[in-house]
Amino acid sequence: MNNQEFYHEPVLKKEIISLLVTDKKGIYLDCTLGGGGHFRAVAECLEPGATMIGIDRDSDAIQWNLRNPLQTSSRVIIEQSPFSEFDKVLERHAISAVDGMLLDLGVSSWQIDNKDRGFSFMGDGELDMRMNRNSGISAAEFIASSSEAELCTILDRYGEVQNAKRMARTIKQCSHPIVTTFDLRNCLIKEYGPNLKYKVLAKVFQAIRIAVNDELGELQRFLEKSVSFLKPSGRIAVMAYHSLEDRIVKEFFRAGELGCICPPSQPVCTCKKVASLKRVTRKSLQADDAEIARNPRSRSVRVRVAEKLSNRNRYI
Ligand SMILES: C[S@@+](CC[C@H](N)C(=O)[O-])C[C@H]1O[C@@H](n2cnc3c(N)ncnc32)[C@H](O)[C@@H]1O
Repeated sequence: MNNQEFYHEPVLKKEIISLLVTDKKGIYLDCTLGGGGHFRAVAECLEPGATMIGIDRDSDAIQWNLRNPLQTSSRVIIEQSPFSEFDKVLERHAISAVDGMLLDLGVSSWQIDNKDRGFSFMGDGELDMRMNRNSGISAAEFIASSSEAELCTILDRYGEVQNAKRMARTIKQCSHPIVTTFDLRNCLIKEYGPNLKYKVLAKVFQAIRIAVNDELGELQRFLEKSVSFLKPSGRIAVMAYHSLEDRIVKEFFRAGELGCICPPSQPVCTCKKVASLKRVTRKSLQADDAEIARNPRSRSVRVRVAEKLSNRNRYI
């Protein structure tokens, strides 16, 4: 990464701080450091003795934040890691539980606008799309190694692309090799015509990005571990930008609120399920018109926050 600014306008910054920070001397984990907007905002409101941890799977984000250190009296830890493995980072620093965890999902504006990263059809670059370029296969390799049926499933499930079958066939049977973002874009324009909507292209790129980075698997694995690493009354805040992610979070938080799930006809509980979470936001929080006008990326955000029940408040 050269020395250019890693820019990203953090979404709902004030709201996130007030929902996430419950103890100003506590330990907070930003799992999606990016340009460090939320990270810095949370750190700024903490008091001496607090700890702020930032992780990201993208080495560019890590390098940028290390080169632009926080002016704070808190202890700061910044490490490259996928958030599904946040527990290993905590373990390395002998931290058993935190007061708050933040996930601001997806990619940063910087990643999208940097054409060398291959996330966008607006600029020509290698069709890479990996958040961590040292792990897994690029989007071009993913397309080359997937069957038409596999690609169809991805486009349908992750992009909700209409007639995914035709789209997958077009991509797999393209007359030129698909190596760059414009190769993919031009292949689709050739089939669908020059009026192919940006919205459709965006869905295709999104679907492939989600698959290449296993984004939904990452989220699911993170959530499954998260509660065990929260202190009682600690909070998890998740900012999702599409319905597939938001649904996973919503269902996880809802299930966490449930105690016994045995059928009502059963006199004695055998499931032994105990409620572990309480939703802080019953409905998802969204950006208002002023924020959307200022930061269009906030248009699709859905924020959900849950709190870990203290043992005293757990119920079956
Ligand atoms: C929307 S940006 C976060 C922006 C940040 N909140 C800010 O204010 O600058 C999302 C970031 O999360 C990272 N990311 C996405 N999925 C990840 C994962 N599974 N593990 C770690 N980092 C991830 C991306 O690389 C990107 O830098």
